[in-house]
Amino acid sequence: FIPFHAELNDVRLFSSHLRLRMHNSHKGSYGDVTVIGGARGMGGAAILAARAAAKSGAGRVYAAFIDDAPTHDSLQPELMCRNAVDHDFASGTFVAGPGLGISSTARNILERALNAQVPLVLDADALNLIAADTKLQTLAARHASPLILTPHPLEAARLLGVSSATIQDDRLAAARQLARLFNATIVLKGSGTVIATPGDNAVINTTGNPALATAGTGDVLAGMCGALLAQGWPEREAAVGAAWLHGHAADVLVEQGIGPTGLTASELIPAIRASLN
Ligand code: APR
Ligand code: MG
Repeated sequence: FIPFHAELNDVRLFSSHLRLRMHNSHKGSYGDVTVIGGARGMGGAAILAARAAAKSGAGRVYAAFIDDAPTHDSLQPELMCRNAVDHDFASGTFVAGPGLGISSTARNILERALNAQVPLVLDADALNLIAADTKLQTLAARHASPLILTPHPLEAARLLGVSSATIQDDRLAAARQLARLFNATIVLKGSGTVIATPGDNAVINTTGNPALATAGTGDVLAGMCGALLAQGWPEREAAVGAAWLHGHAADVLVEQGIGPTGLTASELIPAIRASLN
């Protein structure tokens, strides 16, 4: 019997990992992040996640597109854009899902990422593909490197084969169940984001507000999780830290009068950088 107890997310759970940049470090010290996503019509989701990863401190960021990659991101030319089929999955940290779509190409690229021994964040359509495919489920559950899943309630519902109302009725139980099922850290998003890790107490995030209820803010969170893993944060700290800092950035913006109405995911990204420094 595990008591359904949760602690509240607090900077002390992750603050020892903040601002750890050594004088003699170089970009290789902070890891590579590759975002896999951006199917036709949803390229912006991959770009948002990749931009968020870059502004959350990753050393190098790739955006790997399922269909026709743009040559570059002209607003953030640091990003390296390419077609996912041409990318090397052997090393780095991967964020699969933002705008991924559910095509067979997307499924096969996701399978390559799940087979690689690399830290992995699974979001959005990566979760939807896994929910519909027992082989991918098994690969995810067996993934030996750090693994963070960031479902919103409907994505969690698909993974557990229940309704999103059932998820919302007991968010702690749902997050814990997913953590056991995938032997992974779960970030069950929405107001009062729950972070659950197998064997650990669940954590309820205390930051954030309805300014975040706008398209693309989840993609930004996924990119952040990838960047923190790439910088060597342990899986649990990366998840609680990303959730707290993402929400805190939105809280600061609202205090400045940028939101709650009309905040965009793009505007959140520089505020996240500020919350990390
Ligand atoms: N209070 C606090 N946080 C909130 C609130 C709220 N009222 N509303 C939303 N958020 C936060 C969530 O906790 C999460 O971090 O905003 C983020 C929203 O993430 P998603 O639900 O994934 O939204 P989005 O980024 O638009 O997803 C992009 O991917 O998941 C698919 O189908 C989805 O098309 C969508 C795409
Ligand atoms: Mg989403």
